[in-house]
Amino acid sequence: MAKIIGGLTTSHVPAIGGAIAKGLQQDPYWKPFFDGFGPAREWLAETKPDVAVIFYNDHGLNFFLDKMPTFAIGAARQYFNADEGWGIPTVAPFDGSLDLSWKIIDHLVSREFDVTTCQEMLIDHAATMPLKLFWPNDEGPTQIVPVCINTVQFPLPSAKRCIALGKAVGEAVAGWDSDKKVVMIGSGGLSHQLEGQRAGFINKPFDLAFMKSLIDDPEWAAQFSILELVEKTGTQGVELLMWLAARAAVPGDVRKVHSNYHIPISNTAAGMMALAAA
Ligand code: DHB
Ligand code: FE
Repeated sequence: MAKIIGGLTTSHVPAIGGAIAKGLQQDPYWKPFFDGFGPAREWLAETKPDVAVIFYNDHGLNFFLDKMPTFAIGAARQYFNADEGWGIPTVAPFDGSLDLSWKIIDHLVSREFDVTTCQEMLIDHAATMPLKLFWPNDEGPTQIVPVCINTVQFPLPSAKRCIALGKAVGEAVAGWDSDKKVVMIGSGGLSHQLEGQRAGFINKPFDLAFMKSLIDDPEWAAQFSILELVEKTGTQGVELLMWLAARAAVPGDVRKVHSNYHIPISNTAAGMMALAAA
């Protein structure tokens, strides 16, 4: 059976793509952010996952406001990135694991999750950026399965529901008849708000409590409604649902390999965690 090695979480900000393209990793503005990934990269060089399941939120590249699935699972041979309008370079396509995609979809539907299956799916910065941050030389997983959770247009799925989704994805992967090693990735958050009167809002105490909870109490955030999470973390901070799903997809306890928290990158409190399955 497939082996789940652990979970990786990171914020995603389009400007990071520009910084990578321009080689600014040692620039004083960017260094405290990029340095956070070093210890995680070392762990990944040892553990060498073959496949990444990526929980992320599309920002209007593949789904627009006219059609907005709550949960959408990729089932494509290849996933292309495209111009999102942020002025960041488009990255090369990633290969999909069709076998694992359908395994996950079958399992989710049998567990009464009514998911949208996408045999064509453009992936935006939220899906591509973690791959470039954790494996800067493209030395990472050779196949991906994108799992898209709507955080763009209300109503949004609850934290409790995203945890349940993550758990079900983890069950599907654990039951996958394969010798491959799989890593769960959650891309989004932490606190940030891009628009309105609270633009620039950041909540460090909440972010740090949330990061800690992923290690010792991974359902802690389920006590909050979506509106409470927006209040505490901002309209885009609610992307932390991706971290919850990715953590829930790793069965049992986890050991923290490394974490980093840095304010701000663009308008965002940028956090990352690498969690090894215990
Ligand atoms: C920013 C953050 C995001 O999560 C995003 O999707 C786009 C932009 C930002 O802080 O600039
Ligand atoms: Fe975002």
